[in-house]
Amino acid sequence: MNEAVLPDLDQPTQTTEQAANVPMLSVVVPTFNERDNVGVLYGKLEATLKGIAWEVLFVDDNSPDGTSEVVRALAAQDARVRCVRRIGRRGLSGACIEGILASSAPFAAVMDADLQHDETQLPKMLALLESGEAELVVGSRYIAGGSAAGFNRRRAGASAFATEVAKRVLGVRIADPMSGFFMIRRDRFEQLAPELSTQGFKILLDIVATARGELRTVEIPFTFGSRLHGESKLDSMVALDFLGLVLAKFTHDTVSLRFLLFAMVGGTGLFVHLGTLFLGLQLFELPFAEAQALGAFVAMTSNFVLNNFLTYRDQRLKGLAILRGLLAFYLVCSVGLFANVGVAFSVYDQEPIWWLAGAAGALMGVVWNYAMSGLFVWRKR
Ligand code: GDD
Ligand code: MN
Repeated sequence: MNEAVLPDLDQPTQTTEQAANVPMLSVVVPTFNERDNVGVLYGKLEATLKGIAWEVLFVDDNSPDGTSEVVRALAAQDARVRCVRRIGRRGLSGACIEGILASSAPFAAVMDADLQHDETQLPKMLALLESGEAELVVGSRYIAGGSAAGFNRRRAGASAFATEVAKRVLGVRIADPMSGFFMIRRDRFEQLAPELSTQGFKILLDIVATARGELRTVEIPFTFGSRLHGESKLDSMVALDFLGLVLAKFTHDTVSLRFLLFAMVGGTGLFVHLGTLFLGLQLFELPFAEAQALGAFVAMTSNFVLNNFLTYRDQRLKGLAILRGLLAFYLVCSVGLFANVGVAFSVYDQEPIWWLAGAAGALMGVVWNYAMSGLFVWRKR
């Protein structure tokens, strides 16, 4: 037997093989209804990343079009392909965060599945990170050489406006903080991760704002192409998410958009209550107590519906869960009413100023309702 085929005991072959399997670059691709795009993207990654130890992680929010099945079929043939299927959750930022954290590659890229991002830039981005020149590399549409060709005027205007707001309010210094295409050192990401918001679309802006200038960043130009198959998931609600993120970062996380929305919905509830009370008394000639109870009931119901569509859009209850949630919401709000009245009474007892006592009670009520709704109605799964 030839000596060369004997295993080298100092350096077991298994270890070197295992080491070769450890990816250097993890490409994280959030997906929602992208079944026709994932295979094409995989092919392009394979072509462009030759010679690099890479993996791709698709983070799919249980797409109804069966994206995760397509990814799993790819994964069955190539171990570099992985699928994280999230159930009961929606959100681009959250998906990216989970994807990066699920990998142990030292470098992680985030890109869209629809081929709007230019995968041929990945090796260049990786080289900038590996050389230590950058800790974050951003694919930028707004520096010389880059462009957003596929944008219509409205979208271009909105993007420019949001970029301006981010720069002024948050002091973000890069040209394209709204880009969804970037690569980052995982250890740096790991440090920032606990402070990132899982809600919304703007993961890069969040990273940059959270790092407060402490992240060595290089921007490289790319052309934002047009979507291959399917349609964009960006809707007008994205503006709301953006505002929320700016607000949260600006106030160092003391004010959350969710709480503001919840309080605003509560404000509309007051009008619904008074309107119903008025109708009950005038139109249906109900006794006051019954009209008042009806008003509270209708207001709680409309608050629930609005919160389900706006405040907790990313965790929207559907089907039978709506009924369960509604009942829990009634219960939470009823206890909240006791807390409200109790606080108002005790303030009034100390300091008989009606508006101060009333406001203190209302604040207590909304804080209670918010905290308890988060626990029992729209609880995180
Ligand atoms: N897991 C998951 N969950 N993925 C999602 C979700 C979600 O709720 N919403 C969207 N995605 C995925 C899409 O499947 C796609 O792969 C990627 O995120 C981007 O979504 P698009 O719907 O294609 O967004 P876009 O092209 O309008 O916006 C892109 O450009 C913006 C810059 O103008 C994104 O890259 C944005 O991040 C970027 O800010
Ligand atoms: Mn897209």
